[in-house]
Amino acid sequence: PRPIYLSRHGESEYNVAHRIGGDSPLSPQGRRFAQNLGRYVEGEVGEGEIRIWTSTLRRTIETARPLGRGTVEWRALDEIDAGDCDGMTYDEIRAAMPKEFEARSGDKFDYRYPRGESYRDVIRRLEPVIVELERERSPVLIIAHQAILRALYAYLMDKPPRDCPHLSVPLHTLVKLTPQTYGVMEERFELGP
Ligand code: F6P
Repeated sequence: PRPIYLSRHGESEYNVAHRIGGDSPLSPQGRRFAQNLGRYVEGEVGEGEIRIWTSTLRRTIETARPLGRGTVEWRALDEIDAGDCDGMTYDEIRAAMPKEFEARSGDKFDYRYPRGESYRDVIRRLEPVIVELERERSPVLIIAHQAILRALYAYLMDKPPRDCPHLSVPLHTLVKLTPQTYGVMEERFELGP
């Protein structure tokens, strides 16, 4: 049974500054993770086939680069759109828009950022990705973002969608999901620098 690999992009400049969204490049640590991921996938796959899907944001594209293989860029894999809050820190949101901050804490699944998205919106736009993922016969490595991978992980592991905003999908950790006769085997590899 072919595995599905999930990874967040390497640490970005915005991750370092605690800013959400944006389209910043990788930090030096993030670039090191990308190298480690490249070596790891080389060891796992060797001459074999693997599809590599990224978002259209530079932090995922830069993370895929050391793999030295073809990639497919999906807009549907771009991070949750934080709308008017894009580029802010959580502290800045709490100070400038306390009502919004509170509303999101109260219902993170259905909360929609002003002129942005909710987790529920994200799950809806991931549908074509999931259709293609089910159709694909080769292993697939998806390099994407925290909210996106929470949603995909919940789907693949059969977790209730409502739980997905709270699932742990840390940076610099490759998640390998291998379908079994009953359920899915999960392995996590910390490839951090
Ligand atoms: O902080 C990194 C990040 O990918 C942001 O770009 C995004 O808004 C956030 O994580 C999503 O996580 P949460 O839903 O917990 O805010």
